Amino acid sequence: MKPQLVRITRNPIDTDKPLEYPLYRENGVLLANKGAVLNEAQSTIIRETEEIFTSLGDLSAYYEAKESKLPGKAANDESNNSSYNPIRQLDVLEKELLRIYYSPSRASSLEDLIWMRARIRSICKHAPDAALAKIFLDNKRLYSVQHAIHVAVLVELTTSFLNWSNEQIESLVGASLTMNISMGILQDRLQKQSKPLNEQQKNLISAHPTKSVEILKKIGIKDSAWMESVLKHHETPDGLGYPSQLKLENIPISATLLRMADVYCAKISGRSYRNPMLPHIAAKDLFVGIDKEVHSEIVSAFLKILGLFPPGTLVRMSNKEIGIVFKRGEKINTPIVKILLGKNSLKAHSPKIVKADDDKNKIIDIVSHKQLSQKGNFIDLWNL
Ligand SMILES: [Fe+2]
Repeated sequence: MKPQLVRITRNPIDTDKPLEYPLYRENGVLLANKGAVLNEAQSTIIRETEEIFTSLGDLSAYYEAKESKLPGKAANDESNNSSYNPIRQLDVLEKELLRIYYSPSRASSLEDLIWMRARIRSICKHAPDAALAKIFLDNKRLYSVQHAIHVAVLVELTTSFLNWSNEQIESLVGASLTMNISMGILQDRLQKQSKPLNEQQKNLISAHPTKSVEILKKIGIKDSAWMESVLKHHETPDGLGYPSQLKLENIPISATLLRMADVYCAKISGRSYRNPMLPHIAAKDLFVGIDKEVHSEIVSAFLKILGLFPPGTLVRMSNKEIGIVFKRGEKINTPIVKILLGKNSLKAHSPKIVKADDDKNKIIDIVSHKQLSQKGNFIDLWNL
C-alpha cells in the first residue's frame, strides 16, 4: 500500500547523517530509505528537488521520538537560563495553531499539526498537572486556539487513562485541535459578544463540523477517525445534535468524548457576559445528557483526571488561607495545594505546600480568580 505523503517543511534535511525518515518525491517515487546515509549524487538530487515528502507514519514516529523527552527544554536552556515551564511551552503552540486556523492552506499546515500533536502529548505525559493548570489559568485572549489546546490536553489525558491505542489517541488529539478550524474567527468574536447570535452566525455554527472536515481534507488529512470525530463532535445521544441529528448508535465514543471535553472546557471558561463555571459544578454537569450505560466509563475517567479541584483552581482552606491547587492527589477531593495568601499577605514566591485532606487541611470553597484582588504570577509555580 502506498504511504500517505507529507511535505517536509519544518526541518532542513541533514544529508550527512542517517535519514530519520524516508524521502519521496511528490509522485510517490522513493528517493532514499530511512536510515540511509546519502552519497554525493543522492544529496545533489535531494538539494535540487524543490519539494521533498515523507510518509505520515514515519513523520509522526519521528516527532514522537523527538518530543519524547521534555519538549523544548534544550532550546529553552540554550537561549536563556530561565526555567522550563510546561504551560509556557503550550502557550507557544497557540500562536502556531492560530496561523493554521487563519491560513490553513499553507504548505506546512499538515506537518505543523503532526508536530504540535506530538508536543502536546509529550507535555501531558511529563507534566500532566501543569498542562491541566493551563486550562484554568489562561486569559482567553486567543480563545479559539486556547480552547482547542485545552480540549486536546483533556482528551490526551483521558484517553491515555482509558488505555486507548496510540492510533486512537493521535486521531482524537488531532481532532481536538481542528474541530473548529472553520470558525476560529467567529469563535473569537463570539467570546466577546453579549448579543444573541444573528442568522448568519447561526448558519456558520451549524455548518462548522462539515466545513472543518472540508478544510482538513484540503490540508491533506486522510485519517478517517480524525475526520469522523470532527464531523460528529456536536451530535448528541438524544438525536438533537448537529449537523445530522444522529442517533446514539451512530455516534462513535470518540466523538462523544471529544464533545464532553469541548463542553467542559467551554463551561469553565468565562465570556464577556458570564463568569466561568467553577470546576466542581462543571464536573457535575458532565453527567447531564449522557447515556449512562454507554458513557459512564468516560465520565468516570474525566472525573478521575480532573478531580473536583483541578490544578490551577483557587481554593479556600478550612483555616481561611487561600491556595492554588498544584497537583492532583490520591482522591478526587484531596489535591496538593500551594498556599498563596495567608492572613495578610501574598506568598506566591515561597508558598507552603499542603496536602488537602478530609480533616485539618480541608478545602471548604472554590475562589474565583476574579475574587483574588492580589494577583501573583501563578504560571511560574509550575516551573520545572
Ligand atoms: Fe465545535
